[in-house]
Amino acid sequence: MGNKNITIGLFGFGCVGQGLYDVLNHSQGLKATIEKICVKDKTKKRKIDANYFTYDKEEILKRDNLNVIVELIDDASEAMKIVRQAMNNGVSVVTANKKMLAENFKELYELQVKNNVALIYEGSAGGSIPIIRNLEEYYDNELLSSVKGILNGTCNYILTRMELENKDYSEVLKDAQASGFAESDPWLDVAGFDTKFKTLLLTIHAFGVVLLPDDILNTGIQNVSYDDILYAKQRGLRIKMLGVSFKSGDKFRVYCLPHFVDRDSELNNVFYEYNAVEVEGAYSCKQTFVGKGAGSHPTGSAVLSDISALTYDYKYGYKKLRKALNGNQKIEDGAKLIEYDFSIKLYIRFQNREQLNDLEILSIEEEYKSANTNYIIANVNFKSLFNIYNKPDNKLFICAV
Ligand SMILES: NC(=O)c1ccc[n+]([C@@H]2O[C@H](COP(=O)([O-])OP(=O)(O)OC[C@H]3O[C@@H](n4cnc5c(N)ncnc54)[C@H](OP(=O)(O)O)[C@@H]3O)[C@@H](O)[C@H]2O)c1
Repeated sequence: MGNKNITIGLFGFGCVGQGLYDVLNHSQGLKATIEKICVKDKTKKRKIDANYFTYDKEEILKRDNLNVIVELIDDASEAMKIVRQAMNNGVSVVTANKKMLAENFKELYELQVKNNVALIYEGSAGGSIPIIRNLEEYYDNELLSSVKGILNGTCNYILTRMELENKDYSEVLKDAQASGFAESDPWLDVAGFDTKFKTLLLTIHAFGVVLLPDDILNTGIQNVSYDDILYAKQRGLRIKMLGVSFKSGDKFRVYCLPHFVDRDSELNNVFYEYNAVEVEGAYSCKQTFVGKGAGSHPTGSAVLSDISALTYDYKYGYKKLRKALNGNQKIEDGAKLIEYDFSIKLYIRFQNREQLNDLEILSIEEEYKSANTNYIIANVNFKSLFNIYNKPDNKLFICAV
């Protein structure tokens, strides 16, 4: 076990690529070396010897002395081309690219089967938290009922600072961008898309259910205001952006929404860029994994762990998915297992009543109107949330109660 020498072709030398380079240099006992690194920008100054770098992906993909490709670029469609070619060449791949994985999972699963190669991606959900391999191996026979978590460090960082510093969203976002905790275009993070890609991956490994990103509803924190934070604070709650995936009878409910989280939950005490995943099983009960959800070294360490796993020829077994497929379910049937028609209790802050027209409100439990802010606590038919789903002009803030 663990004897194989790994020779790596690396794509990307940004935040995670450089983090991997550092942690690999400091690791002991792992027989892995980076042979060549493909990057994009010829004008950028690099921290390490220029001989490492190439700008031509074929220079790595056509080499026959590499046994692992590590894909760490920030362009999901280009990443897919690289990963597809590598796997078709019979080379195993490590990636942290949740967007690529979520958008192309069916093909990526089939490429693993067809070429008998590994594709592993611990860094793609929860950053440094070892959750995917745990869902896959440790909980392989456990009857899991729910997986949910704080999966986006940017959202949690913004919500934490808003609450602790009594600041509004736009002020904290600007600061977070200046200090590198949020991207210059933060939409994928703050609108819940990044949380959704990760929730999709956790759902595959927890329950063997494969979904497409559009099957999962996401609304984010882009319209949160200090009034909402205050509403929660006054009731001993905190707003947390959660991805949730849980069993409901013989179906599943999977969605990504801000939630009011009470003090009894371990998720209540997860701050700043930290992530947490809470796994609930019939016999193991509730267990929570907490760790840094992003960043150069934390994510680099998850990628290193995947590389190390390849030294003993590790592959995801996809036991739950395979079991479902053996039972004649098709991989593309995942959405048929999802329940959309149910009542969900929501806090909805709005400016004018017309904004609520697209929602199927079943009953209102509380209503508040003032010159500055209006909100309702209402039971809403979940599927009607798709009507307002990430319309960029919709200024509603929606939070599960
Ligand atoms: N940052 C995190 O904390 C984190 C956490 C978990 C997962 N991830 C995932 O890890 C991946 C990398 O993220 P990152 O934050 O490290 O990105 P990043 O800092 O923006 O770096 C991206 C790297 O990819 C290279 N690149 C872009 N397009 C390329 C192409 N077509 N061919 C070759 N190289 C290309 C860039 O080259 P240049 O250097 O020449 O610009 C750069 O080195 C993403 O999928 C991200 O979602 C990131």
